[in-house]
Amino acid sequence: MKKPEDQTLVIFGASGDLTNRKLIPSVYDLYIQNLLPEKFAILGVSRTKLSDENFREKIESGIKTFANYKNSDVNTLQKFLSMLYYFSINTEDYSEYPKLNSRINELNKDLGISGNCIYYLSTPPSLYPVIPQALGSAGMSRNSKNTWRKLIVEKPFGYDLESAKELNKKLLEYFDENQIYRIDHYLGKETVQNVFVTRFANGIFEPLWNRNYVHHVEITGVENIGVENRGGYYDSSGALRDMLQNHLLQITSLIAMEPPSSFDPDSIRNETIKVFQSLRPLKDEDVIKNVIRGQYLSSIIKGEKVPGYREEKGVNSSSKTETYVALKLFIDNWRWGGVPFYIRSGKRLPTRVTEVVIHFKPTPHYLFARKSLQDGCNQLVIRIQPDEGILLKFGMKLPGSGFNVQNVNMDFHYSDLMDTYLPSAYERLLYDCMIGDSTLYQRGDAVEAAWTFVNPILEAWKNNPEFPVYGYPAGTWGPENADNIIEEKQFTWRYPCKNLVNDGLYCEL
Ligand code: BG6
Repeated sequence: MKKPEDQTLVIFGASGDLTNRKLIPSVYDLYIQNLLPEKFAILGVSRTKLSDENFREKIESGIKTFANYKNSDVNTLQKFLSMLYYFSINTEDYSEYPKLNSRINELNKDLGISGNCIYYLSTPPSLYPVIPQALGSAGMSRNSKNTWRKLIVEKPFGYDLESAKELNKKLLEYFDENQIYRIDHYLGKETVQNVFVTRFANGIFEPLWNRNYVHHVEITGVENIGVENRGGYYDSSGALRDMLQNHLLQITSLIAMEPPSSFDPDSIRNETIKVFQSLRPLKDEDVIKNVIRGQYLSSIIKGEKVPGYREEKGVNSSSKTETYVALKLFIDNWRWGGVPFYIRSGKRLPTRVTEVVIHFKPTPHYLFARKSLQDGCNQLVIRIQPDEGILLKFGMKLPGSGFNVQNVNMDFHYSDLMDTYLPSAYERLLYDCMIGDSTLYQRGDAVEAAWTFVNPILEAWKNNPEFPVYGYPAGTWGPENADNIIEEKQFTWRYPCKNLVNDGLYCEL
């Protein structure tokens, strides 16, 4: 892998959680692998007053807890920390940006960095339009002849279609599209990228990857944790905006896209956006029938009482925000016409798991005795996390007299690749931005297309307050009504476990 050009990484929101838990630990992991530029600095920017030294101490503990290489030696860590600097400004005050510019220039001069710069927005979303405008007004946003500037924008990108469009418009006043990197950290996950390889590097899957052979597709992205200390943010977001509009629709687009003409960013992104554009728009009556929302209720998990969503800190006690959403969608194109995609996400479910299940159609005529229609329907499970891997389920004759068929597993686990290092999503994405590869970042038109699909659901919920929010006890698989959206009664949601092959059991972590 090549080394990026000299550059400075300016992180806005540097005193926040994301910087400490994910961003700088990921940069540290790149450092250990010798993948940082020869000349490099991180400048943390935030309103909190901190010295360089205070900032380094805070980050040191973040690295020791969250980096993949957290156990590296003390000298290496100290050398890395010496590349960290801090500058405090009120990011809402445009008049302070020339001071920030001088600080960046001073650092560049001291360290011999040519002026290339990444601005990372890891602030509350209300500042996403403000900071780029301030950078623009201070003459800090445009590329010059020999140096470039890039802008990474964290999720959520917009609150609905209109706000996403407004944000895109605002950013494009000061940055060009090819300078903007809209992050969706799921695209940085190694196992999500492996969807490309599974589909396009294997002759056996691609011929089956369409409406002729696929019965339905199931995509699950659920967690066992609740909203933790993010109640305030979550209550104005909900599962649909927080997970489905971005992470799960991105996975859907990789599963459903056509093969790109080549592996460059635009060819790939041209194909993924076509999937979003082909999503069948949902009318109010579809939302009523095919979208289920739920909220977790207080319950006892492993002998401990856990609070219901409405009792969480920062959450309105009569909140209708969904902590669970399940829906059925269709992709109206030649490859997928008529194939239902079932997607669900939720908090406080029995386990943390993200996976895709391709359910193949049954054999045209089943010769053997069977218990349900599902016998004879092969499944390919692509496990994104945890116990990352791939599982193929197929029927096998049970030894002995007669023809008794049993579904068995053929499985591959990433953990079997001894000594293989699985980089974190942020590590991959930060490195890609440093070298100017935007393949795994979202283009503005794709974000808007994803919101176009989700918006009617938000509207339907807003306009019909009577639309039910089903309660489900924390630690269960969500509202039972979610089963009703599955077209054929013989099929149910898969109940995955922490362990890829240990499915079918009603499990807990
Ligand atoms: C974030 C959501 O984008 O993704 C969180 O805001 C969620 O609510 C998280 O917990 C899940 O990410 P991961 O990588 O842990 O699956």
